[in-house]
Amino acid sequence: MTDAALRIAPSILSADFAALGRDVAAIERGGADLIHVDVMDGHFVPNITIGIPVVKALRRVASRPLDVHLMIEQPDRYIEAFVQGGAAMVSVHVEAVPHLHRTLALIRGLGAKAGAVLNPSTPAAALEDVARDLDFVVVMGVNPGFGGQTFIPNTLEKVRRVRALLTAAGASADIEVDGGVDAGNASALVTAGATILVAGQSIFGTPDPERATRTLRAAALGQP
Ligand code: DX5
Ligand code: ZN
Repeated sequence: MTDAALRIAPSILSADFAALGRDVAAIERGGADLIHVDVMDGHFVPNITIGIPVVKALRRVASRPLDVHLMIEQPDRYIEAFVQGGAAMVSVHVEAVPHLHRTLALIRGLGAKAGAVLNPSTPAAALEDVARDLDFVVVMGVNPGFGGQTFIPNTLEKVRRVRALLTAAGASADIEVDGGVDAGNASALVTAGATILVAGQSIFGTPDPERATRTLRAAALGQP
């Protein structure tokens, strides 16, 4: 993997919500490629976080694209508002939408990159018939809902299976891994086929998020 092909997406879920502008500036100085925004509704996942007004506010201060991860029921109702609010990438959970093909087309039709997210218990094969309708796949490394959880080891094999499925379909979508990513597993995830790494706690849980962003990129590329 070349430096340019890898994208680091710090998750602001673990940032200081009273100082989001400051924290976004720090990770951008550290070389963040994307800003990962976790939207939770208290129904699809057992936690409530942030919504469209915060995406709009982030859009004003961030220079990198916003990668919006919707952990909500009936996401179709809100996708247009998130894209208009500044989301460049929108991902929805396979488990939350009855008509995944339609939802992906909706996102692309609005001019954003469309992603489908797999919970740890959802097989890679759930994406077989939409492989070419996706810009990216998000493989969860934890059960969604909270930052700072322990990485589920089977995720590595899941990433390999998703990459094989995409290749077999002639698709070159990105694979994003979200949850429990740190400098210790980043390189193995990239070797398995990941191209985007989301990290919350391993960046914002440190005293120096700018430095932690650089450290994660170097680790992912296998640099000492
Ligand atoms: C989990 C969220 C993740 C989370 C990752 O529900 O989707 O984006 O912020 O946080 P860490 O890296 O701390 O596991
Ligand atoms: Zn996320």
